[in-house]
Amino acid sequence: MTIDPATAQLRCISCGATPATAAPDFRCSTCGDLLEFAFSNWPDDPPALKSLWTHRKTLLKPLDQSGIWRFRELLPHIPEEHVITLREGDTPLYDLPRCAQIAGVDGLQAKHQGMNPTASFKDTGMTVAASSAHEQGFRWVACASTGNTSASMAAYAARGNMHSLVLIPEGKISWGKLSQSLDYGALTCQLRTDFDGCVRILNELVRQKPVYLLNSVNPYRIEGQKTAAIELMEQLEWEPPDHIIVPGGNLGNSSAIGKALLEMRDMKLIERLPKLSIIQAQGANPFYRSVKDFAGIKLEPMTADTQATAIRIGSPASWKKALRVLRETGGEVEQVTELEIAEAKAEIGADGIGCEPASAVTLAGLKKLRKSGFVKPGETVVLILTGHLLKDPDFTIKFHRGDLFTGTRQTARTSHLQRAPIVLDADLGAVIAALDAAEKLV
Ligand code: F0G
Repeated sequence: MTIDPATAQLRCISCGATPATAAPDFRCSTCGDLLEFAFSNWPDDPPALKSLWTHRKTLLKPLDQSGIWRFRELLPHIPEEHVITLREGDTPLYDLPRCAQIAGVDGLQAKHQGMNPTASFKDTGMTVAASSAHEQGFRWVACASTGNTSASMAAYAARGNMHSLVLIPEGKISWGKLSQSLDYGALTCQLRTDFDGCVRILNELVRQKPVYLLNSVNPYRIEGQKTAAIELMEQLEWEPPDHIIVPGGNLGNSSAIGKALLEMRDMKLIERLPKLSIIQAQGANPFYRSVKDFAGIKLEPMTADTQATAIRIGSPASWKKALRVLRETGGEVEQVTELEIAEAKAEIGADGIGCEPASAVTLAGLKKLRKSGFVKPGETVVLILTGHLLKDPDFTIKFHRGDLFTGTRQTARTSHLQRAPIVLDADLGAVIAALDAAEKLV
């Protein structure tokens, strides 16, 4: 069965200009705002589309085995010979029974985007944007990153025989992520600045060198990241949850998931919209402040700081796109403290799932949204977990050893969640004593 894909056209989100091609920094050449893909001629047979997408999972072609390209009718067209895929997407949706109880909701699930090939959600957008670089014949691709985009870009560039340049803030990304970009062969530059400083340099660079920008201002990234929401609806048999909760950093992911929800509603793939809520770390909360203090009229950049280094971002590029989907879906924005993030991360871990700190803001945020009454006890909630537990083992070990908040009084609240390793003599009696002591506590 074949279904004609939708027609994609670049469009500026502010002035509506429709350039035939994008400038190197993906900014509108008329007004300087971001571009997005606008679609026309949507396929108009929802049942046929749904069964085609599900059927493709049984096929062996790489394009069909990718959880992104399976949905190619809703993506910009890229000829098959240029598609770079690592069989990304098709990530699991898990129940979180203990976390549900803690948060006070009946139905809580997590879509684990950390189960992608490079262990974060970035692969879903990178397969599309890197393929577009390949189609356009670029030799070099580049990104500024807090670590996950760079890991993903380096992998896809390597698979597509392209060179990659990574700009990361020195000392502020996890070893797990840094080691990935090294192994995948990227030219990795640790700049003495923060993420926002890396972005500034990269924007200048792409104007001077034939290097393809792979940050999430690149609208191909957003299109690929849309598929997480499509796949989620498929996993829920096209019955939307009441709430979807995502972390907010540069705000590309929330924009992408929201865009997918709105498009699916317009195409009648789903009958109602879930509320999409966005959670930021309190120390990196420019979007939260924009909505709460300035009614979304402006966003004041800030110097960001959080141990959830993935979302340590003070000037999010996609804030206007995120604001639009927040408003259109009726979602809420929330901020959470460092302690709340650490606590939530250990709670997700204790459900046998695990994630990196930036992903755990979703559960921390849900708890607050329950308390405020925005989320009701009987409602269904899906958290989007964006990165794998093993992305940032330092954070996890520090937490369990009680070293995460040294010099503060914060640890008392999390001691029940801490599981520091116990060093013992190689002695059976000692191990049995440890087991008996643990048994008394459960
Ligand atoms: N979660 C993780 C694990 C991330 O790596 C990021 C962003 C986010 C959430 C936030 O997503 O930026 O689309 O709002 N990481 C980027 C990077 C910035 O460079 O890896 P966002």
